[in-house]
Amino acid sequence: MIYSPALLDFDTGGCIEPMDAELVDVMRKISCTHNPFIGNKRTLIYDIISTLDHEQVEYSSVLDLFSGGGSMSLAWKMLGKQVFSNDLLKTCHVYAKAFVENCQYGITKQDLELVCQREPVQNNHFMEQHYPERFFVEEARQLDKIFSNVQEVYFSGSGEQYVGYLILANVQLYIIHYCYLGGRLSKRQIIAQKEHRMENVRNHGKQLNCLDSYLYDFAGKYNQCTALNMDAFDCLDFLLDSRDKKIDLAYIDPPYAGQQSNYPWMYQVLESWLRQEETAKWIDGPGMKKFIYRRTYKDNFVEMLKKLDFIPVWAFSYNDQSWASIEEIVKIIEPFRKHVSVYSFRHRYNYRKVEKHDGIEYLIVANSGQGQK
Ligand SMILES: C[S@@+](CC[C@H](N)C(=O)[O-])C[C@H]1O[C@@H](n2cnc3c(N)ncnc32)[C@H](O)[C@@H]1O
Repeated sequence: MIYSPALLDFDTGGCIEPMDAELVDVMRKISCTHNPFIGNKRTLIYDIISTLDHEQVEYSSVLDLFSGGGSMSLAWKMLGKQVFSNDLLKTCHVYAKAFVENCQYGITKQDLELVCQREPVQNNHFMEQHYPERFFVEEARQLDKIFSNVQEVYFSGSGEQYVGYLILANVQLYIIHYCYLGGRLSKRQIIAQKEHRMENVRNHGKQLNCLDSYLYDFAGKYNQCTALNMDAFDCLDFLLDSRDKKIDLAYIDPPYAGQQSNYPWMYQVLESWLRQEETAKWIDGPGMKKFIYRRTYKDNFVEMLKKLDFIPVWAFSYNDQSWASIEEIVKIIEPFRKHVSVYSFRHRYNYRKVEKHDGIEYLIVANSGQGQK
């Protein structure tokens, strides 16, 4: 193989992989999972990480405080960083456990067959009882079986718990693939009404069968990563108290309080499945409404900045339709950090009206000065 001079390390004579090539490769691998998590940053991985490089941010550990579908956490894991991945929703935590924290275990078709076919000892029939408008009886029964079997075999039995998380994460991706038809999400359409979804040409009038799920895993030789399932404030308090956990960079991608930022509401069907609790029992819980309403957003945002103080570099994602203008947000951050820079990227939104299809995504990098190369 002949390497171009740009790829040669002149000190060692070996080949080096330029960050660009590594990042493109990481993005390609992540885009294979088809996780259309609302507000995900999959298409911005390159922009965000190369901007941090351009800003000369030196970091080996990163906290992804609002990890969502896990795309940024996964990218950093694959780039060899030590990642702390947090989200309030169990729906998101399952992705972080399966794909980010788990480095050791893969998943096989047999694992999936076991949870689809075994008769569980205890079955709450939760989906069958609560979501007849979203799932046909056979579909709901399959979901109930899968959930109960994962608990019995992998979470309280002798099966490896990460395989349990891999099953839940992959089944979730499959359900979303089948049931999410896009559009505005004011009526929980992440999981469309069953008749509506059957009419969609993509589904060929076929019911869900979780045995058809694609099986993804991201096992490999990576740094130890950690998945947390807390309100953002509690997570920051917890990490501050765990003094052995040094974190160089915080990536903050909260709900923007714009259109479609009520995540507990949008993902309630899957969240209730994972909690085995009706939505009304958990949706008003601590943290669920912190970053939804414009009128209370600023106070919570400032409180979060205070709690972030122990992490030297912060990177925030916002867009041009967030709770405040980008100038206002920067003004609030500036008193907390020495250097604050703003970068903008064009972004294509699927849910915006045609004339507003393209939008601007911002990355605000705020550095105390201790985290530079
Ligand atoms: C914009 S999304 C993050 C998208 C993510 N970066 C991705 O690439 O998929 C915001 C996330 O914040 C989470 N969230 C909302 N309120 C929270 C809170 N109080 N604490 C922690 N996470 C919260 C939501 O569940 C949602 O997953």
